[in-house]
Amino acid sequence: MLLAVFLSGVALGVSEDPQAVTLLQQHGLHLTLSSQEDLSLLSKLRFMPHNSLAVPTLDANGRLCLMCDLPPAERAPNQSYVQRTDCGNHSVFEDAAILQVPLSTFQQNATEEHNQTFGWCELNVQKSCADAVYNKDYMLFAKSILVHELAPGVASWDQYFCFYNGWLSSEIKALQHDFQGMYAKGRDFCNSEDLIKRGSQGNTTVNDVMARWLRGHQGLSGDRPTIEDSLFLAAASCALGGGSSACDMAYCAYSFCLKDDGFGTYDECQGWDPVKGMPI
Ligand SMILES: *[C@@H]1O[C@H](CO)[C@@H](O)[C@H](O)[C@H]1NC(C)=O
Ligand SMILES: *[C@@H]1O[C@H](CO)[C@@H](O)[C@H](O)[C@H]1NC(C)=O
Ligand SMILES: *[C@@H]1O[C@H](CO)[C@@H](O)[C@H](O)[C@H]1NC(C)=O
Ligand SMILES: *[C@@H]1O[C@H](CO)[C@@H](O)[C@H](O)[C@H]1NC(C)=O
Ligand SMILES: *[C@@H]1O[C@H](CO)[C@@H](O)[C@H](O)[C@H]1NC(C)=O
Repeated sequence: MLLAVFLSGVALGVSEDPQAVTLLQQHGLHLTLSSQEDLSLLSKLRFMPHNSLAVPTLDANGRLCLMCDLPPAERAPNQSYVQRTDCGNHSVFEDAAILQVPLSTFQQNATEEHNQTFGWCELNVQKSCADAVYNKDYMLFAKSILVHELAPGVASWDQYFCFYNGWLSSEIKALQHDFQGMYAKGRDFCNSEDLIKRGSQGNTTVNDVMARWLRGHQGLSGDRPTIEDSLFLAAASCALGGGSSACDMAYCAYSFCLKDDGFGTYDECQGWDPVKGMPI
């Protein structure tokens, strides 16, 4: 799942990769980890190509931001999307203490003073999900991810994550371009008892999420999440997305399909179109 990318990005920040560390230090990274055990696990994760999405870029306020891009023009021709400039107030790259607070802390409804906000916006991670919500188009988020640029193993990991959560079904594919429909589907999913008991209402922390993700990723490439990992991380996606997992659902539906011999990505799936997405 996308969190996998997020966490690899965080992992990259503490790796000994000189280029990455320099980049992050220049922008004031103070990330610390809770235990020696986390650190030794993280040290195995130095596998991100430098030009991958997992390397943060700078947002409009000069803050580090991970997964903040708009879709490439060939996927969203003639689209003029607005990018929010009010995210990152609790950047995960600037304050390690933020790893320990419940994810519900970041959720706020819109008021006259500020837009609706939630973890993806506040933490400046997977921030293009906040842009997708703002533009009322989950395809903004789905199309902004370039699966082939992800680290080896992440795509295949995401395929299982999507599959176990039921997000490769035709029911979800039918909602790719239906903002309200996808939102409602994600909200109902998040409000199910199964998801609530795994933290979808935000009583888990980034550290809890990271620990779970690392457990599922110890051998990296080729590893896959269990069903339990997938549900737990989907619950985190609910909490980080302000109560709906619709961004990740749209990403799954747009990017992957089930084939007779396994999973397909993009044009490995019959009828996939970069603009229209996956056929139903
Ligand atoms: C985008 O706009 C151009 C010029 O107005 C038009 O020719 C083209 O068909 C449009 N593409 C889509 C996918 O709407
Ligand atoms: C909401 O975000 C948009 C885009 O960044 C911005 O123009 C607008 O001022 C924000 N609204 C509030 C109430 O802050
Ligand atoms: C946002 O508003 C909804 C509906 O009014 C309410 O149920 C929810 O608790 C509010 N969320 C927050 C974080 O205040
Ligand atoms: C982030 O902080 C700025 C400055 O305090 C504020 O104007 C903005 O509304 C905040 N963004 C959100 C989403 O609350
Ligand atoms: C989060 O809340 C749910 C529902 O109350 C509960 O079942 C679960 O154990 C809690 N998780 C944590 C990590 O506290």
